[in-house]
Amino acid sequence: MNTQMSATDRIIIFDTTLRDGEQSPGATLNVEEKLAIARQLARLGVDVIEAGFPFASPGDFEAVQKIAQQVGTADGPTICGLARATQQDIETAANALKPAAKPRIHTFIATSDIHLEYKLKKTRSEVLAITEEMVAYAKSFVDDVEFSPEDAGRSEPAFLYEVLERAIAAGATTINIPDTVGYLTPSEFGRLIKGIKENVPNVDQAIISVHGHNDLGLAVANFLEAVKNGARQLECTINGIGERAGNAALEELVMALHVRRQFYNPFLGRPPESEAPLTNIDTRQIYKTSRLVSNLTGMLVQPNKAIVGANAFAHESGIHQDGVLKHKLTYEIMDAQSIGLTDNQIVLGKHSGRNAFRSRLKELGYELGDQELNRAFLRFKELADKKKEVTDWDLEAIVNDEAQQVPELFKLEHVQVSCGDHSRPTATVTLRTPDGRELTDAAIGTGPVDAVYKAINRVVEIPNQLIEFSVQSVTAGIDAIGEVTIRLKYEDRIFSGHGANTDIIVASAQAYVNALNRLFAAIQHGKSIHPQHGEVQAVL
Ligand code: KIV
Ligand code: ZN
Repeated sequence: MNTQMSATDRIIIFDTTLRDGEQSPGATLNVEEKLAIARQLARLGVDVIEAGFPFASPGDFEAVQKIAQQVGTADGPTICGLARATQQDIETAANALKPAAKPRIHTFIATSDIHLEYKLKKTRSEVLAITEEMVAYAKSFVDDVEFSPEDAGRSEPAFLYEVLERAIAAGATTINIPDTVGYLTPSEFGRLIKGIKENVPNVDQAIISVHGHNDLGLAVANFLEAVKNGARQLECTINGIGERAGNAALEELVMALHVRRQFYNPFLGRPPESEAPLTNIDTRQIYKTSRLVSNLTGMLVQPNKAIVGANAFAHESGIHQDGVLKHKLTYEIMDAQSIGLTDNQIVLGKHSGRNAFRSRLKELGYELGDQELNRAFLRFKELADKKKEVTDWDLEAIVNDEAQQVPELFKLEHVQVSCGDHSRPTATVTLRTPDGRELTDAAIGTGPVDAVYKAINRVVEIPNQLIEFSVQSVTAGIDAIGEVTIRLKYEDRIFSGHGANTDIIVASAQAYVNALNRLFAAIQHGKSIHPQHGEVQAVL
């Protein structure tokens, strides 16, 4: 895969789920979970994975390094690390990226007057000098250097052109144009890219990339307008997760370019009828990637979300169903199968053996190591005992739940509730503590889940606030697996937890213990620096 291609060839997909996506409150992932997502992103076919901000913490460094080692192979994607425009950040990123066959350093500095005055406290000429010096410094480690003028959308165009010209002259091979605060409209964003093409003299020596946030819900529309005006790399995240309202959603961009390729082909110099894909993405991996990211980050996908929402392909209304049955194209512009949404087939039952289990998982695209397979198989057997027929979606729920690699500091051994319309909901829980003790406690609550959470709190003794609780069923039917996702707040940080079980009280308890374990692990590892809001003064 060659990302340094001619600017008109096709669209480069740069995925920043593991960097900008992970910056959303509560989406924190550990190293193993980041690796699981990176592997899936490689299967999806993204060209570049922005694996993290290595200077943020030792955990972030390790994650970028392991992704570089295990996913950044010669036939895999380019692995990118973010670095502020400082020597320390750039050197740390270069070290983390060393094992990658195709490493990229992405360095940035803000260019809008508002950022210069209040955040950086620097003059324009200082920013120009830092850009030149730090891009050249990054280039001394790797050939592939990306430069971003942060808050480009609100920067003065003439100054922006000058910064970009200097960055390219210093060796940047990609210039990325961020709408950091999601302020621009599509026509403004398109004009910005056109202006850069027309006014940066050496622009043909770099690929123009775009990055944008969804504060006004315009990120995807802005990017498509940018493509029409010459942008050839799109920076996006799975399910559109990211700071505040999120980033541009990868699945929406890719499917827009796929479904409407006749419209976009001419902007890439192709005949309208060309069938050649505009991106390298294997669209059939989209749904699976979306589910994995949602389960591991605890960021739920809204049911009416384009492409991957639960209702995106559900034809609820009678009129639509009638139309779709007569001819799919009456109400469908794309096929559910094109994003990998297969029919929910009943595949296994309680007599199915290990081999059948393994081979169905393989067909679904999951290759588990021996240990993971053993654990998943036990879960499958338990499920098959309760539920006669196990479907693909059940298997996927088990595998995604197993992909969570949260250290089991506290382990849920037992949970029992008594409740009903004339009794006070009471729960008893037994947890194994990090030092191996088994502690049991009980509590009364306003409902069974409240009682369970209060009983767990009595054992764990960490003050926190539950801020979100949601239950979703994986399949239809009374015996379906229930997936519980929660978010809790501890001091100023948010942690998510996920649990899956046919008993939603057990799933709720698992989700809570899972979030508490994330909280404990994070306390042990310390905080990460935020690349954009951190102590900029001290390091620039
Ligand atoms: O939104 C932004 O400006 C960023 C930069 C670091 C590229 O995320
Ligand atoms: Zn961003």
